[in-house]
Amino acid sequence: MSHDISEENLPESHGDSHGHAVAVHDDPFADPGLPVHQPRRTDIDERAAQRAERQVSLMFVVSMLATVGFIASYVIFPIDKIVYVFPIGKVSALNFALGLTLGVALFCIGAGAVHWARTLMSDHEIPAERHPIEADDELRADVIEQFKTGAGESGFGRRKMIRNTLIGSMALVPLSGVVLLRDLGPLPEQKLNHTGWEVATPQKPLQLINMNTNEPMKAEDIIVGSLTFAKPEGLEEDAEDFQVQIAKDALMLVRIAPEDIKDTTSRDLGFEGILAYSKICTHVGCPISLYEQQTHHALCPCHQSTFDLADGARVIFGPAGHPLPQLKITTDERGFLVATGDFDEPVGPSFWERKR
Ligand code: FES
Repeated sequence: MSHDISEENLPESHGDSHGHAVAVHDDPFADPGLPVHQPRRTDIDERAAQRAERQVSLMFVVSMLATVGFIASYVIFPIDKIVYVFPIGKVSALNFALGLTLGVALFCIGAGAVHWARTLMSDHEIPAERHPIEADDELRADVIEQFKTGAGESGFGRRKMIRNTLIGSMALVPLSGVVLLRDLGPLPEQKLNHTGWEVATPQKPLQLINMNTNEPMKAEDIIVGSLTFAKPEGLEEDAEDFQVQIAKDALMLVRIAPEDIKDTTSRDLGFEGILAYSKICTHVGCPISLYEQQTHHALCPCHQSTFDLADGARVIFGPAGHPLPQLKITTDERGFLVATGDFDEPVGPSFWERKR
């Protein structure tokens, strides 16, 4: 099927009902032209322009205050302080303050810039003609000239309050990155050497509590091929130091057919094929949550360290430098799984000072 684009079928109109300028030629897809420019309130009312200028500056000032708040957070909040924040729940006060202040600082710079552009910078639309990618000298000179014109129209030199507050907020924001260097230390020293399981003894064992159901776990309920997460009895989720404590105590429980367990020491630390390993990766401490029951491999999602749980959680791939520490478990007289001591190794990342 062919389309008839002969002259008598072309539109004759030279303008539209919205006042758009329409090019006059034989092209059925004629360039509608630019809409007629409508001045904004800030273009015709100097008081409105000054109000907009103050609003933009206010946002940049708020950004500066938020950056100062970011830095102050490091001094004010202890690293282990936990607070309740609706609707998130319990979070680290330091992390929350850092995220909030940095978010406000960056948002205010962005919002201020957008408000500045929409209300005070020139909003005349200028068609840009297509041209070869390589610019000639004349065009470059033209671009520089346009840049200077744009800088003049933006009022960057004239509106000193905006300029100064913008420079202030942009100068302060990078300081946030500098104070983050504090997170490179201090080293954990002895803090990872012992966990909440250390109070367990053969005479006074600690029950393993299922982290999903919050109930003690019976050995007979753990089936071969399953993966379950556990915590020590007495560690409640509404405890002040829950986040700090669970970061060390979290257990990953698997059941492997005893004949498939290659490492005899590991088998002896378990109970009838149930093995309890630390859930905390020995690379940089991410929680491990992926388990491949056919191969008995546990995978850390952060940098893909892979541990063979049938072979003492030996590292078979990835950057982790140590096997996962294992917890000795057995059952009490009612068949509930219990631990009789702490992990066989310090949990978590492999710092060079880590030894027991
Ligand atoms: S934290 Fe597990 S591989 Fe990096």
